[in-house]
Amino acid sequence: MIAIADDFRTLASRHPLGTPPNGPEERLVGRNANYRIDTDSGSWFVKKFRFSDAPDSLARCLAYDEVLAAHPDAGLPRSPRCVVADPDLAVLVQEYVDGAESGTMLMVDQRFTPAVAATLGRTVARLHSLELPDLPVRDDRPTPAPAVGLLSGIPLRHVRHLTGGELAAYGLIQADAVLCDALRALASDSAAAAAAATTPIHGDLRADQVLVRGDDVWVVDWEEFGAGDPARDTGSFLGEWLYRAVLDIPTARGGGDALARGGSADAVLRRGREKARALAPISRAFWLAYRAERAVDDDFVRRTGAFAGWHLLDRLLAGAATNAVLPAIHRAAAGVGRSGVLNPAGVHALLGTEQPS
Ligand SMILES: Nc1ncnc2c1ncn2[C@@H]1O[C@H](COP(=O)(O)OP(=O)(O)O)[C@@H](O)[C@H]1O
Ligand SMILES: [Mg+2]
Repeated sequence: MIAIADDFRTLASRHPLGTPPNGPEERLVGRNANYRIDTDSGSWFVKKFRFSDAPDSLARCLAYDEVLAAHPDAGLPRSPRCVVADPDLAVLVQEYVDGAESGTMLMVDQRFTPAVAATLGRTVARLHSLELPDLPVRDDRPTPAPAVGLLSGIPLRHVRHLTGGELAAYGLIQADAVLCDALRALASDSAAAAAAATTPIHGDLRADQVLVRGDDVWVVDWEEFGAGDPARDTGSFLGEWLYRAVLDIPTARGGGDALARGGSADAVLRRGREKARALAPISRAFWLAYRAERAVDDDFVRRTGAFAGWHLLDRLLAGAATNAVLPAIHRAAAGVGRSGVLNPAGVHALLGTEQPS
């Protein structure tokens, strides 16, 4: 009997979750241990938190659940209701959204539509416009990875927990003084923007946090919900498409044939621009819908482009965590991310998200 079944049984004895099944639960993807469990009274999404900050993560998920319940007409991103949150067991139970597909799946299959992106842009802008007095603090994740504190060196006690891929990734970033300075400057601008206004943000807005069924769109995983810089959300969402454009370079996705071996550097760059152009209707739909809903200043636009670039470094480190080596395509993505951090206007030009005229 594995632990989640025991936990679920315990929770079902205290909450109206129905009769626990005897059969095996379905394991889902994610950083945490996530399951679908069906009982006689419903289908449940059950997350067993695997990290030591579980109580804070749970509290943030619940905080968004309460915001959503308190503002039913605010046009906020839809999210499945939390039914049970147990900090002792480190388990969250939500309604399972049946028949929905993950945004990542749609992205990879080229079925992520501009309409879905527009829904996200509109609802995330509404979230950013909401005035809420008591938001969770999210001091533990002021920037994406790498943490600014690790740019000048990694404490020895951390080093032995890193994979070969992570050491290589940190080596690449730390050796680049121009990039490190730009990351520090962006972190400091972002902290100042977060301090200047209390803005509710999702904090980790990626394609895999999106569920889609027909015209209905949900945003899940509110573990990093709280007060922050709204450009984190817009930047990571746009960064997903920048990342996708790079990953698509060797493939036939987004038009053209698969890349022949030995292509010149110019040919690779040209393809990257073509791939970004093919994805631009999605990033543009998100951005136009966002801007139609919320007035922003030039600095927000700049930080969004820069965080889109930073997102590729975050993805580099996330991929490196399970790899002994850094695949070439991930290094290429990090190079594009670097350019984005240094030249945010270039990101907007690539993604078709220049100023609406
Ligand atoms: N309530 C839900 N119903 C159906 N699928 C869900 C639900 N919540 C999350 N998922 C799916 O499970 C995946 C992992 O959930 P998530 O909350 O993002 O966990 P993690 O913290 O492990 O990233 C999501 O990417 C999504 O595809
Ligand atoms: Mg997630």
